[in-house]
Amino acid sequence: MSNKMDSIVSLCKRRGFLFQSSEIYGGIQGFWDYGPLGVELKRNVREAWWRDMINAHDAYSTPEGAPSAFGMVGIEASIIMHPQVWKCSGHYDLFHDFMVDCKECKSRFRVDHIQVALASSTSGPARCETYIHNSDEAGYSGSKKKRLEKAAGEGGSVSEVSLDRYPAVLAEHGADVAGDLIPRCPVCTGELTAPREFNLMFKTIVGALGTEEDAAFLRPETAQGIFVNFKNVLDSARVKIPFGIGQIGKSFRNEITPRNFTFRSREFEQMEIEFFCHPETSQHWYKYWRDRRMKWYKELGLSEERLILREHDKAELSHYSTGTADVEYAFPFLPEGEYGELEGIAHRGDFDLRSHMEGKLDEKSDPLVLQLDADGNPKWKGSGKDLQYFDDQTRERFTPHVIEPSAGADRATLAFLCEAYTEDEAPDDQGNLQKRTLLKLNPRLAPVKAAIFPLIKKEGLPEVALGIYREMKSAGLNVVYSQQGAIGRRYRQQDEIGTPWCITIDVDSVTDGAVTIRDRDTLEQTRVPVSEVTSEIQRRLRG
Ligand code: GAP
Repeated sequence: MSNKMDSIVSLCKRRGFLFQSSEIYGGIQGFWDYGPLGVELKRNVREAWWRDMINAHDAYSTPEGAPSAFGMVGIEASIIMHPQVWKCSGHYDLFHDFMVDCKECKSRFRVDHIQVALASSTSGPARCETYIHNSDEAGYSGSKKKRLEKAAGEGGSVSEVSLDRYPAVLAEHGADVAGDLIPRCPVCTGELTAPREFNLMFKTIVGALGTEEDAAFLRPETAQGIFVNFKNVLDSARVKIPFGIGQIGKSFRNEITPRNFTFRSREFEQMEIEFFCHPETSQHWYKYWRDRRMKWYKELGLSEERLILREHDKAELSHYSTGTADVEYAFPFLPEGEYGELEGIAHRGDFDLRSHMEGKLDEKSDPLVLQLDADGNPKWKGSGKDLQYFDDQTRERFTPHVIEPSAGADRATLAFLCEAYTEDEAPDDQGNLQKRTLLKLNPRLAPVKAAIFPLIKKEGLPEVALGIYREMKSAGLNVVYSQQGAIGRRYRQQDEIGTPWCITIDVDSVTDGAVTIRDRDTLEQTRVPVSEVTSEIQRRLRG
């Protein structure tokens, strides 16, 4: 990990943002606990999403870039659903990764994470080296490069391919996977096992009998809870197409290689929208959501330079998708120039509603999804329910197309933390410049909105300060009070957790009824009457 990432991880532990799950027992890989400040930060991320996407949405005006006005509602579905849901969604058959293990150092890798660099000399493939994308420890090092250049020799070349495609690439050259062409462990060059398939869904048992028939799964995405409730929402909420259903909730994936702090976890939270529209306008809606979601991250503080919107090329698209774009962020744990996915915006066509209706897919579908039994009938039957939409104005009946902006709450929280982490210099109590660490979080996301400090512990200052503290608490603002230590130290403690404003009560406050608000980023100090402090902080929070 980079130095910056090490500093962020250590701040998160030291100040109570994030802890390793079950740490006192040595921890459990891929699971994380949010501490007192982390829980506030992540709640603020979720609330910003829910408010901006659902509650504050105006269903009667057309937002910029949208084809028309539209409605937005929310749901909260259960984590364990009928097992048939996962058969019809394709997760039961298709939601797997291939993994390989190193027989010597016991490292485990996802096959598609291992890159093979192949040196071809003028007489054909000569040598390969393996490395892991985005890895400091097992990346594409100087020594690997040198060995390849030597093997390629004059007139030769080096090409790179993912391990899952490597056998096919070698075959194109008419070569076998043998000798110097055998991919070895990227960490220790030990021998690798053959790839093994691994379903990512966590299995559990529902009920007392505990037989295979009672097997169920923890949901690997929140999306399916929305699809199976499409008709319920349509019938109960009186929404008309186009409209979206949003949901925030936990998802679980038994990731083979959880890593990079919370970036790839086994238990994580998603914030997903399934937006239902007419097939003819679906491309417009796809573009609208893609651009709107990108804007959301920028408005909440992610910088343009570290954020990209990457359209998938044709080879990357799922068989049912006519467009997918990822919002990606240059996390500090990634090598320079690499980005990690924050959110995917996918055009899913009518794939999900149709598979929950029919349990089978048409000839366009991927043959792997079309599971047939021995008699040639679809193996997984759909619900048989009519999940079509009837437009009572045009008298048209159709299966809506779906645009899915699917974000990770933990990844967004991590990105906001990484972006906010700053080291600069600020004057101490004596006016000398000192190094300071601060989180420049957007005030909407900051765990603590203001800290209230009486300059000294006497002369009636604590009473005034506690009065302000209680008034702000009653207004629903998460504020803290502290009368301990030098004022400069108290400011620094708050800067480090991203508190946007510190309110200082000094001896003059008792007579002039005013206090000082100090801004975390600009260090600007403003005098404000005590009676207006709460409304001033609320005004600043609205931006
Ligand atoms: N319904 C579509 C879907 O689930 P996805 O790309 O697999 O799509 C959507 O997941 C988002 O969920 C990702 O962009 C990421 O932010 C988050 N996510 C997925 N797997 C994750 C993991 N193992 N740990 C943390 N977040 C994850």
